[in-house]
Amino acid sequence: MRPDKGKPYYSAYDKRYKSVYSQGVDYWSSFPEVIEGVITVLTSLLPVISTADNMKLIELGCGEGCYAGHISKMGIKYTGLDISETAVSKAKKRFDDRKIKFISGDMTVCREIKENAFDFALDISSLHMLVVDQDRNKYLSTVERILKPGGRAIFLNESYRENSIKCRIETYEQWLSISGTDVDSSETRKAFQNGLPINIDIPRIACRPKSKDQYRDEILSHGFKNFTVLSHTESSISFTAIKGKNQVQS
Ligand SMILES: C[S@@+](CC[C@H](N)C(=O)[O-])C[C@H]1O[C@@H](n2cnc3c(N)ncnc32)[C@H](O)[C@@H]1O
Repeated sequence: MRPDKGKPYYSAYDKRYKSVYSQGVDYWSSFPEVIEGVITVLTSLLPVISTADNMKLIELGCGEGCYAGHISKMGIKYTGLDISETAVSKAKKRFDDRKIKFISGDMTVCREIKENAFDFALDISSLHMLVVDQDRNKYLSTVERILKPGGRAIFLNESYRENSIKCRIETYEQWLSISGTDVDSSETRKAFQNGLPINIDIPRIACRPKSKDQYRDEILSHGFKNFTVLSHTESSISFTAIKGKNQVQS
């Protein structure tokens, strides 16, 4: 399976982290306006509580773990999980705090996580990395499994397009040909080196935008209710949902 032989397509992000660090950039996720925006949303959604309450949050596709410190300071026990060992090792070096834990693993299965384990599941720009329907379904079922009943799933900054592709996507190759994504070429992107913006060339990664209705339908069909859009721009959307079934009206 392209681009990494023998590895699932969604592990491709590891190459991007390696490429970013080899070009002298300390952290890929260091865009101040993005970080500030996410922290503002999290501050409004997560309760500020005492450590005695022992609320637990898992961040799926946590990358370099740039929000772990903020979440931990709110008194919430933080676990970050990412398939990229490069990013997870960067994240581990960043923190020495027993309320913060990082695991490398596949979020579509979360093999090492028990059911009903977390009060919150946070996904920042990770769901859209899964382009094949079967992988998205497996992932959303896993999010439902590891959340406590009534737990909240929070999806922030997911790729959004109102007129997005409507057919089922069975394979990665099908997505590449339909979307025209050329993962064999690199792209030039802005990054920060010692606080200053620079341009770097990085591997292109496949990403699947969806419309608001498509996101709502797939979330509600995986055992969630109260789908709520928090905000959207032309190209990105943020929403939350609660684990549980809607009451059927008699
Ligand atoms: C766009 S990055 C976002 C990283 C981080 N959430 C942030 O905002 O900085 C998407 C992340 O999802 C991770 N990812 C993609 N597929 C994954 C999977 N199946 N399991 C775990 N992590 C995955 C990638 O390695 C990458 O770190």
